[in-house]
Amino acid sequence: MAIPFAPLSLSSFVLATITVVLSVPVLAAKPVEFAREIRPILSDTCFKCHGVDAAKRKGGLRLDQKKEWFHPREEGTLVVPGKPQESLVFTRITHSDPDDQMPPREEVRQLTPLEISKIRDWILQGANWQPHWSFVPLRRPALPKNDNASWTLGPIDRYIGQRMVEAGLHPAETTDKPTLLRRVTLDLTGLPPTLKELDTFLQDTSDHAYERAVDRLLSSPRYGEHLAVDWLDLARYADTDGYQDDEPRTMWRWREWLINVLNDNMPFDQFTIEQLAGDLLPDATPEQRLATGFLRNNRVNGEGGSIAEEFRVEYIVDRVETASSVWMGLTTGCAAVMTINMIRSRKVTSTPSLPSSTRPRNPEPIAVMPSRLYRSPLVQTRDASRKLPGTSNSLTTAPGKRWKRNARDCSIAPRKP
Ligand code: HEC
Repeated sequence: MAIPFAPLSLSSFVLATITVVLSVPVLAAKPVEFAREIRPILSDTCFKCHGVDAAKRKGGLRLDQKKEWFHPREEGTLVVPGKPQESLVFTRITHSDPDDQMPPREEVRQLTPLEISKIRDWILQGANWQPHWSFVPLRRPALPKNDNASWTLGPIDRYIGQRMVEAGLHPAETTDKPTLLRRVTLDLTGLPPTLKELDTFLQDTSDHAYERAVDRLLSSPRYGEHLAVDWLDLARYADTDGYQDDEPRTMWRWREWLINVLNDNMPFDQFTIEQLAGDLLPDATPEQRLATGFLRNNRVNGEGGSIAEEFRVEYIVDRVETASSVWMGLTTGCAAVMTINMIRSRKVTSTPSLPSSTRPRNPEPIAVMPSRLYRSPLVQTRDASRKLPGTSNSLTTAPGKRWKRNARDCSIAPRKP
């Protein structure tokens, strides 16, 4: 007879939960941040029935918007700052009657005792509601004070110092010069230092040896290459199309653009404008058109039986979702198609490369983009010297042809078969 056993174990679980919650000392609680710690819990356990979807909403209650939080309802007020026991949200999540408890008993995702105590602490601390973090303007935070951290050299060290104090840690001894150079070189370029660089650093006994090494690393082309890695991930860069065939594609000229502008220290606003709408700038340069390759990094389905319209929409969704997650910290998800209309109507951007691709595979427009390398004085001099009488290089007999071939190899998208 297993059935009578179930309610008993449930109520003892509820009791256990309450005991754990109440036994957490209140005063020792760390400040709880709504956006970081509370909303994710509610989103996981409550929004399914009390969220944005009106068709699935239960009890006429929305918990994803501030306006319902502090207003009295029939049964009481959802949240009374400082008073968990008078807050409906708290009394419902700790209710001893399984019929009234939230989330309902039959839900797989239940609140853990730790989550319950966080919600309680947040209410006790004044229930400070915050909008989604991506809607909060950036502001420069006050630097943590730490008087006893004599080793701090800059503002970032102050944050590290503060966390170390909190965790009861002490800084290690200052490291030796070879280790320092190895760390900073790996950090800025992703590569270890060469022996020659190490020798130069060891021989430089001035006070500015470290600054000099950092300046050298920042001006190295390797710096932009290393910095590009994270942006390539965000831009969903790949050298193949994805989907079942995963055919190779020629996209590296966009990657080269990225590395170059990072090495040139392009300001972030310009970096943004060029990638989203470089082709719309007045007298757009080839490089500015190339920048919009960001929007062309989406996966492309080359399957014979694919329906063009389906994938046209698929690519638009991908582009909108990527651009909005990367720049706004907001996954537009299934709202993407709607959002693109909104974006269009507000003229935030009308980048042709955003909505226009109707064909599978990397479609038109295709740009012929010789690499910067082919325009460098070094290569031009070399090519010129090969054209001198007496030099024998079959390639130089037809420089025009060779230029064309290079240009073709560098085009940002594969030519149509
Ligand atoms: C599976 C659906 C479901 C989930 C998940 C759920 N609820 Fe509910 N909730 C309901 C239903 C149905 C009602 C109305 C019946 C009732 O009052 O018990 C309700 C009512 C409430 C009420 C009372 C509203 C009022 O006006 O009196 C509160 C408060 C509440 N829920 C809080 C929560 C919280 C907090 C969570 C997440 C921890 C949550 N609910 C998760 C279904 C759900």
